Amino acid sequence: MAVTTKRKAGAAKTVPGLRPGEFIRVLISSARIKTRLQQLARDIRRDFPTEPLHLIGVLKGSVFFLTDLARELGGEVSFDFLSVSSYGHGIDSTGEVKLIKDLDVSIEGKTVVVVEDILDTGLTLKYLLRFFEEKKPKHLRVVVLLDKVERRIADVRAQYTGFVIPNEFVVGYGLDFDERYRNLPDVCMLQFASRGKAKSD
Ligand code: IMP
Repeated sequence: MAVTTKRKAGAAKTVPGLRPGEFIRVLISSARIKTRLQQLARDIRRDFPTEPLHLIGVLKGSVFFLTDLARELGGEVSFDFLSVSSYGHGIDSTGEVKLIKDLDVSIEGKTVVVVEDILDTGLTLKYLLRFFEEKKPKHLRVVVLLDKVERRIADVRAQYTGFVIPNEFVVGYGLDFDERYRNLPDVCMLQFASRGKAKSD
């Protein structure tokens, strides 16, 4: 599902924690997210109707997405989290990714669904897929809430995508800017008065 800024961007919003010179505009409302998650859950369950699904969330941005998606998926579902740090993201991307927190349990023989908040350059996902494939899951699939297709560097794709979005820096529904705005219920564009768009970092 593609989202364009022209049609969907709302007026600038005042939200708690907004700093001077920062502007927030709703790109995807919480109601649209909920509806889309129900469709994604149906798509995943259509492919794996009876399999226990092991969801792996990438901290911290995917937390709300994973927990909401998990509640929409019927059947047996378990989950785990891991954390990575990425260096030099955005324009100066080096593609260097470091594991900060490993998985708690083995994924060998399991039907694994990696749950990512946003696919940007794809370098993080490329690293993660290599890492997971070595651990021999039965199936390995990826679901992303947001996909900035035009920013892609690595040749990776998700089997399930919530929304294709333009090249805008977004916050909310788990996504942050300097650890702020994760708790906004909508996915919003973050813009600056003086500098224009925020850069991915
Ligand atoms: P990639 O490796 O370039 O695909 O980047 C993936 C990670 O970059 C995401 O999991 C986010 O943590 C971060 N990121 C990329 N774009 C945005 C954005 O617009 N807002 C917040 N974080 C972002």
